[in-house]
Amino acid sequence: MKALCWHGKNDIRCDTVPDPQIEDGRDVIIKVTSCAICGSDLHLMDGLMPAMESGDVLGHEFMGEVVEVGAGFTKFRKGDRIVVPFNINCGECRQCKLGNWSVCERSNRNAEMAAAQFGYTTAGLFGYSHMTGGYWGGQAEYVRVPMADVAPMKVPDGMDDESVLFLTDILPTGWQGAEHCEIQGGETIAVWGAGPVGFFAIQAAKLMGAERIIAIETVPERIALARKAGATDIIDFAKEDVFERIKEITNGQGADGVIDCVGMEASGGHGLSGLVTTLQEKLTSTERPIVLAEAIKAVRPCGIVSVPGVYGGPVPINMGSIVQKGLTMKSGQTHVKRYLEPLTKLIQTGKIDTTSLITHRSTNLADGPDLYKTFKEKADGCVKVVFHPN
Ligand SMILES: NC(=O)c1ccc[n+]([C@@H]2O[C@H](COP(=O)([O-])OP(=O)(O)OC[C@H]3O[C@@H](n4cnc5c(N)ncnc54)[C@H](O)[C@@H]3O)[C@@H](O)[C@H]2O)c1
Ligand SMILES: [Zn+2]
Ligand SMILES: [Zn+2]
Repeated sequence: MKALCWHGKNDIRCDTVPDPQIEDGRDVIIKVTSCAICGSDLHLMDGLMPAMESGDVLGHEFMGEVVEVGAGFTKFRKGDRIVVPFNINCGECRQCKLGNWSVCERSNRNAEMAAAQFGYTTAGLFGYSHMTGGYWGGQAEYVRVPMADVAPMKVPDGMDDESVLFLTDILPTGWQGAEHCEIQGGETIAVWGAGPVGFFAIQAAKLMGAERIIAIETVPERIALARKAGATDIIDFAKEDVFERIKEITNGQGADGVIDCVGMEASGGHGLSGLVTTLQEKLTSTERPIVLAEAIKAVRPCGIVSVPGVYGGPVPINMGSIVQKGLTMKSGQTHVKRYLEPLTKLIQTGKIDTTSLITHRSTNLADGPDLYKTFKEKADGCVKVVFHPN
């Protein structure tokens, strides 16, 4: 089969690789009908996540049709269309029982590697390095879905691929990012990054009752999407002082909740620190926690800092600001399974826009290397790339 494979920094190729096989009774094989490139894949492309190996199949946002099931498997039948959350869940460990799906204790085949880095393991993930289990991903024609009896969901009749594909990751990720802000109604929420995750975080904050939603972004197409999603105020981080503008918009109070939808690869903003970050971006590949620093500064005392943006290792942050302002920080890989049913209902009732962000589509995985580059460079108005490989 054809699949998009990682071969090193900025080296993604469309390879022919062996078709996946059933390895366990809890496995299913799906024929991928839709898959997407995520901002998290850029961290792999840019060599910022360790434990990738040449030839690893990428992709953790995918769905498709079940074509084979393990012996005795009953949850799905051949022909069922399923969406597959990016975290793999055993359904039996303490964390799965608590609904903390992204930190399943038993699905990561290389748990000791993750534990060495983080203290304890996190869940196995598709297409996201050997530290999360080394599972092949879904930017491919076929994929083996292990423990398929737990996380994946059958697509309700009448819902097309593009309306449900993002349930696998970015929609619940934006939702969880907003939920972490504990919005009761009437708050001001600031969202850094109006990429795919920010687009959904803004929609979620609005549905939860935020009164003002400040989007911080510089790319015009993404600013337009932020407005469409419900942002009431826009700050162009390349031209304006983000902290000063948030202070002004909130009448000197600061934002009640702040959401970092950018993560470790932030671009440099306005002023001298922005220049330093831009140099760092151009010259080195290291984590750049500029957004996290801004968010911690711009949130009001006793506010909430929500961090869906991905970081891989230690970064310097102002702990003094967290302690002295009494901040709460919430983060994590998304517990996707928690949100599948409620978000499906919101899609069905037309409350969430799942398609405006798709700018690039292809039916040929051979376009993958070029489309990765287009997405990374935000060229050609690119916000989200979707493949329909079958
Ligand atoms: N927690 C999870 O489970 C989870 C799931 C999916 C994605 N993510 C993470 O969320 C982040 C965003 O993902 P995405 O797919 O939207 O990525 P993306 O790269 O398409 O979007 C990031 C956006 O941030 C903007 N940006 C860059 N520097 C900025 C700055 N200084 N201030 C404000 N905005 C800035 C960029 O212009 C871009 O539009 C990534 O770190 C990704 O790894 C986390
Ligand atoms: Zn993702
Ligand atoms: Zn588990």
